[in-house]
Amino acid sequence: MARILMSQASVGPEEEEALIRAVRSGWVAPLGPEVDAFEAAICERTGREHALALASGTAALHLALLEFGAKPGVCVVLSSMTFAATANAVAYTGAEAVFVDSREADGNVDAELMIEAVRVLQGEGREVVAAIPVDLFGRCADYDVLEPALGELGVPVLADAAESLGSMHRGRPAGSFGEAAAFSFNGNKIITTSGGGMLVSDDGDLIRRARYLSTQAREPAPWYEHTEVGFNYRMSNILAALGRAQLSKLDEFIARRREIREMYLEAFSDIDGLRFLGRSEEVDGSTENCWLTAIDLGGHVGVSADEMVAHLDGNGIEGRHLWKPMHLQPLWERARVFENGVSEGLFKRGITLPSGYGLTNGEVERVIGAVREKLDRA
Ligand SMILES: Cc1ncc(COP(=O)(O)O)c(C=O)c1O
Repeated sequence: MARILMSQASVGPEEEEALIRAVRSGWVAPLGPEVDAFEAAICERTGREHALALASGTAALHLALLEFGAKPGVCVVLSSMTFAATANAVAYTGAEAVFVDSREADGNVDAELMIEAVRVLQGEGREVVAAIPVDLFGRCADYDVLEPALGELGVPVLADAAESLGSMHRGRPAGSFGEAAAFSFNGNKIITTSGGGMLVSDDGDLIRRARYLSTQAREPAPWYEHTEVGFNYRMSNILAALGRAQLSKLDEFIARRREIREMYLEAFSDIDGLRFLGRSEEVDGSTENCWLTAIDLGGHVGVSADEMVAHLDGNGIEGRHLWKPMHLQPLWERARVFENGVSEGLFKRGITLPSGYGLTNGEVERVIGAVREKLDRA
């Protein structure tokens, strides 16, 4: 039986056509009309005024942080429960990464704790140049609380929306929060360019500067003139064509991932102690793109995340631990953290289940059967 994967990319004839179109247009070098059109399409989808297509979501975070003034001697506060890329982007700038723990409901950053972290750091005379809430597994962070409070404290919000394209929070689309937001289009995301990312903002100067840094900081001169260190971070025209084809199917991708989540919700509704970290229905204008479905096995004494992942693996199914919090990573053992124990608990008890667009109902049933088998035996 074929192995059931977590979140496989789904590409078809539309993507093939888009790639051929880009190749035949002669715009094979980086940049070109597909890049411009992809940026415009993301602006339209997110309601942002400006977008910059880049080689990765990590590059988008890195450039935004540089624009916010991240450098040695200053701090950036960020969600601890995230993929390494969020913290790596801070490390590239030399700024001090200060981690903030999660809230129990969904693993997203504890907004009050993030605000307190900024207050404490500022009280110590430290400069906090940015705060990065992460939209975990596709569910937007609590921007209602974060945006006004951090605004008052003078700290720009950089939303890590790598996982949340297409989600809504209280009537506003993911990526529209904060001074800037970063998307990822890597291979396992809700849409993919095989590798890529996008920085979005309403601040034209910020995007202009980031654009300049992303193309080796080349000055407008007839020769190659440079006054700053730049990066080779732009997205290629060919990959942008792929991105446009994928973006045109985003709603279809979300609808199928939502159906899969609903199948899991229904199948596990009778299991005491099994909890979902997100939902499928709309509440208060908030919807999730259902990128990955995450469950907390907490109430089930005797089944840890580790055991469930191993059991699924033995059944040819890819289950994954939730992101191991950054403050528990050996790399960051000396980092400062504002901790409440929540993300550590979620990491021990939580897993994500296969959620890809291309999964058949039969495959989802296989996952459900395997999870139930393990819980019933516990
Ligand atoms: C939360 C989060 N932030 C940042 C990234 C980095 O994106 P990329 O892989 O495109 O660099 C990812 C995905 O990989 C992610 O899941």
